[in-house]
Amino acid sequence: MKSRNSTKPAVKTDSESIHWYDHPEWYEAGFLKETPSEARFLEDVFRKFVPFPVERVLEAGCGSGRLVREMARRGYAVTGMDLNQPALDFCEKKLKQIGCRAVLSKQDMTDFQFDQPFDAAFNAINTFRHLETESAALSHLKCVAKHLRPGGVFVLSLHIVPHDGELWGTERWSVKTPEFSIRYALSVEQVDEAKRVETLKMTMKVQIDGQEEKKLTDHLRLRLYDVEQLKSLLAKVKGLELVRTYDFWFDINDPCRLTKKSCDVVLVLQKKA
Ligand SMILES: C[S@@+](CC[C@H](N)C(=O)[O-])C[C@H]1O[C@@H](n2cnc3c(N)ncnc32)[C@H](O)[C@@H]1O
Repeated sequence: MKSRNSTKPAVKTDSESIHWYDHPEWYEAGFLKETPSEARFLEDVFRKFVPFPVERVLEAGCGSGRLVREMARRGYAVTGMDLNQPALDFCEKKLKQIGCRAVLSKQDMTDFQFDQPFDAAFNAINTFRHLETESAALSHLKCVAKHLRPGGVFVLSLHIVPHDGELWGTERWSVKTPEFSIRYALSVEQVDEAKRVETLKMTMKVQIDGQEEKKLTDHLRLRLYDVEQLKSLLAKVKGLELVRTYDFWFDINDPCRLTKKSCDVVLVLQKKA
């Protein structure tokens, strides 16, 4: 493990700086493959834990809306909330293309307001870690709890750092569609262990119609969690109870325990009756 507040040496780059989430089509292409299994898992959770039929669902930080669309296609009354307008516009356009509807709302997930309660809510792939401070994370959890019906669930998935786990690393993957191909690389470039924040460098090498490849880069700041920190945070939210933990295999028949070795976790939190 590297020392506190360290930074990788700067390297010369010829890439264009962008905001990753302002390019929803390219952003979500990298995650579409997992979407059906995540949606199926959400439905499994609803059936297993919620004592009434789930109809109204909320996604916090829905981005381009890959899950909003998938859940709307499966018949749920979906509300998606995000701060990024290009992502919400993209989601609206794609909903029309597939003939589905959802409510999309530009709001902050630390302080949002809807008139009707939800039967279930979810927050996927590290979106929660965009909340850089404990107070922002707490506000989000409390706001979710306030908007759930008693017995309703909140499904929260995030990466946590295992004890003695490596803070540094790079993940690479690629995607090809009929319109474009993209090579993604996500690497940790700075870690502030005192503030519990890491900065990730996201690189997309995009090639459209066989033209010259464009290299685009963004830097994302995410809060770091270890298991104790996560447990102590959850203990402060009186309205939500942790009822089961899973991992990113999204298998309802294969729950796991939240331990020092946990890495990718999916928490099922239930609003107390
Ligand atoms: C990793 S993306 C995930 C998008 C989507 N949930 C998915 O699974 O594909 C994170 C999203 O969180 C949104 N976001 C970050 N901070 C937010 C905040 N405070 N309130 C609402 N949305 C936020 C970003 O705009 C971005 O669209």
